[in-house]
Amino acid sequence: MDEPDIPQKSPYGVDVEAGRKYWWCACGRSKSQPFCDGSHKGTAFVPVEFRAEKSEKVWFCGCKHTANPPLCDGTHETL
Ligand code: FES
Ligand code: FES
Repeated sequence: MDEPDIPQKSPYGVDVEAGRKYWWCACGRSKSQPFCDGSHKGTAFVPVEFRAEKSEKVWFCGCKHTANPPLCDGTHETL
């Protein structure tokens, strides 16, 4: 299994909109973090869907090593 790139060792805080769908970048290669821009092509990674149930700030994992994708679970502290 390939290792993902690590765009940053901290989460991205994003104000999401209720009802909208987001695609979190799992490979770490996207140029528009924390979301997928198609750069995972040719890797073993695929983006992870996030459906916003309410409008709020969400902390998306930036280190790509979370055990609870697409959200930060604190794993970045151990990298
Ligand atoms: Fe990383 Fe698509 S660019 S999952
Ligand atoms: Fe990846 Fe926190 S940024 S676990």
